Amino acid sequence: MQYSDLLIETHGKVAVIRLNRPKAMNALNDNMMNELGDALYKFDADSNINCIVLTGSEKAFAAGADIAAMANYNYQDTHGGNYIGRNWEHILNIRKPVIGACAGYVLGGGCELAMMCDFLIAAENAKFGQPEIKVGVTPGAGGTQRLPRTIGKSKAMDMLLTTRMIDAAEAERTGLVSRVVPTEKLIEEAIAIATQIAAMPVSVAMQIKDAVNRAFETTLTEGVRYERRYFHAGFGTPAQKEGMSAFLEKRAPKFDGL
Ligand code: CAA
Repeated sequence: MQYSDLLIETHGKVAVIRLNRPKAMNALNDNMMNELGDALYKFDADSNINCIVLTGSEKAFAAGADIAAMANYNYQDTHGGNYIGRNWEHILNIRKPVIGACAGYVLGGGCELAMMCDFLIAAENAKFGQPEIKVGVTPGAGGTQRLPRTIGKSKAMDMLLTTRMIDAAEAERTGLVSRVVPTEKLIEEAIAIATQIAAMPVSVAMQIKDAVNRAFETTLTEGVRYERRYFHAGFGTPAQKEGMSAFLEKRAPKFDGL
């Protein structure tokens, strides 16, 4: 796969998608978001890939939506042209796990894109923020919704209203990221974690992802019912036969292709 604003690598069953607009701190523009959707859909459909890592550079995961590109937009361009909606949310349709590996600035739309990943690993140098108010707009890709659901109202309001950035340690304390690793080891660690996930049955990984995301959209009772359907259906799958047989036979399971 060749893209102008992304770099792509694969490591076994792990795909790494790197946002790559180094001169603009990986500011997210239309072309990059179109390319990102394209790459994500291709990997989601590729049976050789079980897990995806989305990352940026050591300086910036992404410093937000491209301010230069949108500065002269009017209402017709944004509402009429479905700005953000037209190409930013493809990631939410991806069924395989997507890990966000964040270093440097993770700001505005960059933080919002990160929050659309399934979980985040942060480099020690990462800084997360929602500074949109300083450029005269509200966040537009879920910052006012996903941030409070993730780190709570008080911290989210503080970040959104003051533009205060939080560092990796605070991001981990608040649950925005799951782990913090040395900056120079970010990609290596992200690939190692993704490789661990990729060795599990991808069918079950997709079900877990779907069920966890359901938790944010429904009541507890309905969510547990939803989960139970997957659990029961699991007993009709080769992954369950292999996983439980391997345990009883005291051997490592082989989930390849399951
Ligand atoms: N859009 C376009 N270009 C950007 C950018 C952005 N969001 N962020 C950085 N850049 C560009 C700069 O314009 C600069 O380009 P030039 O060299 O051509 O001048 C280059 O990247 C390097 O940036 P700086 O010189 O500013 O680097 P710095 O180290 O001094 O500061 C920074 C880094 C703190 C990230 C600063 O660039 C910054 O504050 N960026 C803007 C952050 C922001 O406001 N993000 C929110 C955007 S709105 C949004 O995202 C809406 C939404 O919710 C969808």
